[in-house]
Amino acid sequence: MKGPALAGLLLLLWTAAAAGSDRPDAGRDLYNGVGAATATVSMGGAAALPATRFACRACHGRNGAGGREGAAPPIRGSDLFHATLARPAYDTASLKRALAEGRAPDGRVLASLMPRYAMDDATFASLAAYLEGLAGLQRRGVHPRAVTLAVAVPPDNAATARRYADALRAALDDLLGGRPVHGRTVGVTLLAGDTAAILEGAEDAVAVVGLAPSARLDVAAFTDRQVPVLFPLFPLAGGEDATVVRGLMADRQDALAAIAARLASDKVTAMTAIDAPGCGGQAESFARRYAATSVRYTLSALPLSAKASGDVLLLCPDRQVARRVLHGLPDGLRIYGLAGELLSSAEAGRHHLVLASPEALLVSRDKKANLVDVHAAAAARLLVSALKSAGRNLDRTGLVAAVDAVSDPERQLDYAADTLNGTAFVPFIETKPR
Ligand code: HEC
Repeated sequence: MKGPALAGLLLLLWTAAAAGSDRPDAGRDLYNGVGAATATVSMGGAAALPATRFACRACHGRNGAGGREGAAPPIRGSDLFHATLARPAYDTASLKRALAEGRAPDGRVLASLMPRYAMDDATFASLAAYLEGLAGLQRRGVHPRAVTLAVAVPPDNAATARRYADALRAALDDLLGGRPVHGRTVGVTLLAGDTAAILEGAEDAVAVVGLAPSARLDVAAFTDRQVPVLFPLFPLAGGEDATVVRGLMADRQDALAAIAARLASDKVTAMTAIDAPGCGGQAESFARRYAATSVRYTLSALPLSAKASGDVLLLCPDRQVARRVLHGLPDGLRIYGLAGELLSSAEAGRHHLVLASPEALLVSRDKKANLVDVHAAAAARLLVSALKSAGRNLDRTGLVAAVDAVSDPERQLDYAADTLNGTAFVPFIETKPR
C-alpha cells in the first residue's frame, strides 16, 4: 500500500473507532438503506430526503463492486484509495467532498445520477470504514483449509433448526465423507443465542443455509449484513436479490399465481376474500392483482356474512393469526390458501382445504419423508456442486453465483432457467372433510 493511502486508512480506522461510541453501524445502515436515516440526500438539486431513500447499494451493489445502476463505479476502499487511469486516489477529505458536493479528487463533477449526501463526521467515518471493510466481508467464512456454512437457530423455532443442522451435516458427510473441495473441508456451524448473537455469528460464515421460519429472524436480517442466505426452509417472497439469496422451491409470488390458475381450473366464479386484521391486506391485494380473471372477488371482514360464497380465500402471513381466523370460520367452506400459512393449523377434517405448497415438491416422491431431512439432503447436494464449480478462489458472491451452474433434475431444479429458486412449479395439497 502506498503512503498516502495507508495514512488515509489509518485516519479512517481511527475516526471510525471514535464514532463507534454512539452509532457504530451508521455507515453500514446508510450504505444498505436500512434503519433510521443518519444523513440526508438530494438528487438533481431537489429538496433533501432521508438518505435511506437512496441506498448506496442500489447503484454500487451490495458488495461495492459497482455496476448495478447507470455504470456506478466500484467503491470498495481498495478501489477508492488507489489511483485509476481516470482519477487520482481518494483520501478521506476528497471522499467527503465527493459525497457532499459530487466532486472527484481531480475536481471533475460527478454525474448527477450520483446523489449528494449530507452527514455528520461520525456517520461519515462509519461509512468510510464500512467501504474499507467491504472487500473483506466478501471473504468471510472462507479459510485456507476450510469453508464455514452456518445454520441459524432462531429462538422461536430452535428444534427445527437443530434438526436441520444435523441433517445437513449428515448429508454433506454422505456426499463428501470429509474430503475437501478445492482444498477446503466443508463445515457447518450452529448459530444460537439471541438474535443479536446469531447475526454476529453469521458474519463469520460464507452463507446461512436452511433458515427455519421465524418471526424474529428473516432473510433481510442477514443480507443487510452481506451474509448470503441459501435455501431457506420456506418459500421466498419472490423479490429477493439473487446475488445474495437462493431458494430451492417456488416462491410466494409463484404460489399466488398458482392459486389463481387453480381457481380457474376448479371453475370457481365467485369467491370471498377474507379481510382479517393482522393479515396485512394480502387477500385484498390478491383480489386486485387477479381482478381480470373470471373470478368475482368479494372482500369480507369477519365474521363472514351468511351470504358469503362457499369458496373462500385466506391469505395471512402470520401463522398464529391465520390459525385463529381459520378456527373461527364456519364448517363446510372450501378454503384456498398457502400450505405454509394454513397447513400446520389445519383443523383436520373440518374444512375442505386447497393449499398451494411449494414445499410439497420436495417430499412428493416420498410422502413419509420429513421436509427438514429431504430439504437438507437437497441443499447439501446443491452446495457441494456449487462449491465445486466456484473453484479455489471462493468468496460469498462467488458461491451464490456458482449456484447458477447447478441443476438437480431429480428434484426439478435448474438455476439457469429460474435464477432465484431453480423452479417455479407449485404442487397443491387438498384435504377434504371426513
Ligand atoms: C442512484 C444511484 C447511486 C446511488 C444511490 C449512489 N451512487 Fe455513488 N455513483 C453513482 C454513479 C452513476 C457514479 C459515477 C459518477 C461519475 O463518475 O460521474 C457514482 C460515483 C460515486 C463515487 C465516485 C467514485 C469514483 O471512482 O470516482 C463515490 C465515492 C460514490 N459514488 C459513493 C457513493 C456512496 C458512498 C453512496 C451512498 C451513500 C452512493 N455513492 C450512492 C450512482 C449512485
